[in-house]
Amino acid sequence: MYYYIDNMYEDDLDQVHAIDVLSFPHPWSVGTYRNELNARQHSRYLVARVSAHLPRPTRTQSWLMQIVQHVVPKPPSTPVGIARDPIVGHGGIWLSLDEGHITTIAVHPDHRGRGVGELLVIGLIDQAYELGAQQLTLEVRTSNTSAQRLYNKYGFAEHGVRPRYYTDNNEDAVIMWTENIHSASFVQRLREMRSRLHERLRQLPQ
Ligand SMILES: CC(C)(COP(=O)(O)OP(=O)(O)OC[C@H]1O[C@@H](n2cnc3c(N)ncnc32)[C@H](O)[C@@H]1OP(=O)(O)O)[C@@H](O)C(=O)NCCC(=O)NCCS
Repeated sequence: MYYYIDNMYEDDLDQVHAIDVLSFPHPWSVGTYRNELNARQHSRYLVARVSAHLPRPTRTQSWLMQIVQHVVPKPPSTPVGIARDPIVGHGGIWLSLDEGHITTIAVHPDHRGRGVGELLVIGLIDQAYELGAQQLTLEVRTSNTSAQRLYNKYGFAEHGVRPRYYTDNNEDAVIMWTENIHSASFVQRLREMRSRLHERLRQLPQ
């Protein structure tokens, strides 16, 4: 079994929503994701897919398409004639000034604990570099210690609390920030984490 990162496409949204329903008390609607996909100047949304075979890079992942998308930001169009693998997780990032805000991340319960969350975090950090972010931030429920540990691993540290941020149960949000993502220490840590994760994923049962 191989996990890999791909763009989120509009016709992925039913699968994305199904994972959100399993992951969050108040999942985003398909319409919210559609709006996010249409704001490519400021945002990027990724999915993790699973394949029984070693995936070949799709046309949209080639360097040429990346450059074109960078110059003319637009929602990725569905590649014609390419059957895409099922989605097991997804995440998104918004740029505000030079701050990258991780807006969401979720992994299907059947695929948790195998490194997919890490794969998504690395994918989102890569997108943050592309968008020109200097730092990354996010909010996470105080009770969500597994997500906090995931973010800690990638250099996010707690920098305060937003009281009663979550209106469903009045739970506080922990605010997390990275250091400057262009700093030598962050870049070095990311490089190490990336190669550790690749090793971990390589050892998953095929
Ligand atoms: C948080 C979430 C995305 C993690 O995804 P995942 O694929 O299971 O995570 P990974 O397998 O990549 O684990 C990476 C790290 O996260 C932390 N982690 C993940 N699950 C954990 C758990 N159940 N308990 C403690 N730490 C956990 C660990 O630090 C882990 O590293 P380790 O294996 O070296 O200890 C997933 O649990 C999820 O979708 N939760 C519901 C949605 C959610 O809470 N999203 C975050 C909103 S802010």
